[in-house]
Amino acid sequence: MMKPTTNPTAPDHDGDVRAGRAVQYDKLYAARARTDLVARLYAEAMGEDHPAEIAASSSCDWPLLGLATARLRLAPGQLLVDAGCGTGGVGLWLARATGARLQGFDLSPIAVAQAAARCPHFLPAGPERAVFRVAELEDTGLPTGCAHGVVCVDALGHAGDRGAALRELARLLAPGGRLVVTRALRRGAQPGWHEQVDAAGLHEEHVDERPGEPAMWERLYGLWIDHADQLRTELGPGPAERMLHEAHQVLPTLRGRRAVLLTLRRPPTGPAGPGRAVTMAAPKEPDARPAAPERILP
Ligand SMILES: C[S@@+](CC[C@H](N)C(=O)[O-])C[C@H]1O[C@@H](n2cnc3c(N)ncnc32)[C@H](O)[C@@H]1O
Repeated sequence: MMKPTTNPTAPDHDGDVRAGRAVQYDKLYAARARTDLVARLYAEAMGEDHPAEIAASSSCDWPLLGLATARLRLAPGQLLVDAGCGTGGVGLWLARATGARLQGFDLSPIAVAQAAARCPHFLPAGPERAVFRVAELEDTGLPTGCAHGVVCVDALGHAGDRGAALRELARLLAPGGRLVVTRALRRGAQPGWHEQVDAAGLHEEHVDERPGEPAMWERLYGLWIDHADQLRTELGPGPAERMLHEAHQVLPTLRGRRAVLLTLRRPPTGPAGPGRAVTMAAPKEPDARPAAPERILP
């Protein structure tokens, strides 16, 4: 969705697409930094579940932070990777809460610069505990087995190849390390991630439902549409139109959406093998439909 049009026969087509998407994200992050309007709308949509300090560009709320903290089981000094970190609030909050070190990465250089600038606020005694880089979900450039935990909030759905992105995030995990990742699907659809999880050599440890997530998006998109003129004025027409396009496109798909936090673990010892979570409390219907579109904008 909303990918720039490029010549698919060109040798560096994928690179062009990624560069185009990075530019779009850069424009959005730069625009958001000029006004608190978008943050105010997130706060209104989330109500008391809104963790204001995070300033997330996602569905990250207090329940998600609590779940991620509990599922990652990080110890002080261990490395957490925040994949598709945006402006870094999720990873920085988790690093401060757990004593972990943090490596964040994102496609958008502007988001990465904004994230780096927030380190002293979250980690005043040791801002060097957190570093950020420009990188791709499918090719992070980080060392194999470097991370005890990986968090990926509302970013995996943006990967050009989700399977490749999952394999890359799995590669980063040390034995026993965990990846927590948000996913969403339409009501009644069968989860489409099992094969990708198996192929990545991970074990599905937990599937936690996020029952408030769809209604939050419904409220937020409604607020964006209600504030369309203000968004155009304060963000500029380009970023505002992208947000409004997303709101109009995704809003009708939200009814019946199921949102979860997956906890995927690299086996502590021995070769990676297939595995399934024991906590899959989900409505299942035989007529599997494709996953609902995930958000594309910060
Ligand atoms: C909805 S935002 C979520 C940001 C952050 N996780 C949060 O919770 O605030 C999605 C992020 O994924 C990043 N992104 C999209 N495609 C990516 C890719 N292929 N590789 C790395 N980052 C990507 C975008 O730049 C954006 O910052």
